[in-house]
Amino acid sequence: MNAITLLPDDAVGPLTSDKQLLKRGERLLEPDVYRAAIDGRIAVIKDYRRYRGTFLAPVARLLVRREARMLRQLAGWKHAPALVGVIGGLALGMEYINGQTLSSLQVADGRVFDQLHRALERLHEQGITHNDLHGTNVMVAAGVPVLIDFTSAWRTPRWRRNNPIARQLRRSDLKNLLKMRKRVTGVEVPPELAAKVAEPHWVSVIRSGWKRNYQRFKARHNVPA
Ligand SMILES: Nc1ncnc2c1ncn2[C@@H]1O[C@H](COP(=O)(O)OP(=O)(O)OP(=O)(O)O)[C@@H](O)[C@H]1O
Ligand SMILES: [Mg+2]
Repeated sequence: MNAITLLPDDAVGPLTSDKQLLKRGERLLEPDVYRAAIDGRIAVIKDYRRYRGTFLAPVARLLVRREARMLRQLAGWKHAPALVGVIGGLALGMEYINGQTLSSLQVADGRVFDQLHRALERLHEQGITHNDLHGTNVMVAAGVPVLIDFTSAWRTPRWRRNNPIARQLRRSDLKNLLKMRKRVTGVEVPPELAAKVAEPHWVSVIRSGWKRNYQRFKARHNVPA
């Protein structure tokens, strides 16, 4: 497998224009995401460098490395951006997808979702689940859906792919895809697919237990809704 290209910090300049900013990282461990040139080619940078020297720097490095590894594994696949490299350990450079996020499309024809469905199956066949599939994590460029944001993605080793958690992660990816499809195209989910993504009882039990505890925690600590 190809090694990940390591680039020095000065391979990309500081953010100088707001036009280049795609998303400002505001919450904890959210990167700034912006466009910049690397070696004269336009790229997207996910930048955690504001954490340099803080106690969160090792976590940010880990997030960068994980996403870089995922993209490297998917190299050459048209449904994921190509990895450009890791910049100074705390930033990631990747191919700029010149399109729109799925959530910003007014109308998308069903074919985009058919492609996305096949792409997701292909990803799952490789043992990878995306785990954060929603409208701003899918770009559509010239009618082709491209999955972005592999920060939460997970690769399950081959011998564990049939275990209940791996199966639940795959089901959850598919459920999110069907939710997006319904919202954008207005087409109801066919019953056989709806049955396929229905939650098993143990998942509902964990989910409602988790929700209850979280609500209790919020009430106790006065966390705004
Ligand atoms: N390779 C890319 N090409 C074009 N635009 C991109 C690319 N990567 C990210 N973007 C844009 O930047 C936005 C934020 O990127 P990304 O989802 O990776 O960051 P994030 O902080 O994890 O976001 P969130 O937490 O909202 O999911 C995307 O919604 C998209 O609009
Ligand atoms: Mg995202």
